[in-house]
Amino acid sequence: ARLVVLVSGSGTNLQALLDAVAADPEYGAEIVAVGADRDGIAGLERAERAGLPTFVCRVKDHASREEWDRALAEATAAYEPDLVISAGFMKIVGKEFLARFGGRVVNTHPALLPSFPGAHGVRDALAYGAKVTGCTVHFVDDGVDTGPIIAQGVVEVRDSDDEAALHERIKEVERSLLVEVVGRLARNGYRIEGRKVHVGE
Ligand code: GRF
Repeated sequence: ARLVVLVSGSGTNLQALLDAVAADPEYGAEIVAVGADRDGIAGLERAERAGLPTFVCRVKDHASREEWDRALAEATAAYEPDLVISAGFMKIVGKEFLARFGGRVVNTHPALLPSFPGAHGVRDALAYGAKVTGCTVHFVDDGVDTGPIIAQGVVEVRDSDDEAALHERIKEVERSLLVEVVGRLARNGYRIEGRKVHVGE
């Protein structure tokens, strides 16, 4: 399967996918391009180091959010992805993007959805006093972090945790969960029925 990965930051989830593809000829997926909503991030450096094509779609370069969304969809479509992986991509894709790739966009979120959606899931879980949190890999729908859940991983919250420490621990689980899920979707195929995701049946 052809993957386009979208990033906004350090790109350690991207790196985990790159490493999995390189390590396992049977992984069943290859990353064909990496897109970002901003320049100068480690995620793009990781892509360049891996010799991958990259593209940047910045909201401020477009007259409207819709124009940005269309540009992102077109840049992504140029690589003819089977799956689009949003790995730490910090923008909400819009109608045009979902019209083209709906049902084929996978997102990873650092909390146990439906708890703590949005851009500060780790901070919100910590502030709430949750005893366990974790990460969720799900298909993207037209809501924010509301699409059908594929897999989740649980992480204990420690009294000593601050946001950074907890997020690092979540990311360890998140990276392996994302690699496992993407490989399964790529190799076995999947069906989405309402909120249920059937992989490889
Ligand atoms: C991940 O935890 C992702 O779920 C969240 O931001 C983090 C991105 O990490 N949205 P990286 O860029 O993959 O290192």
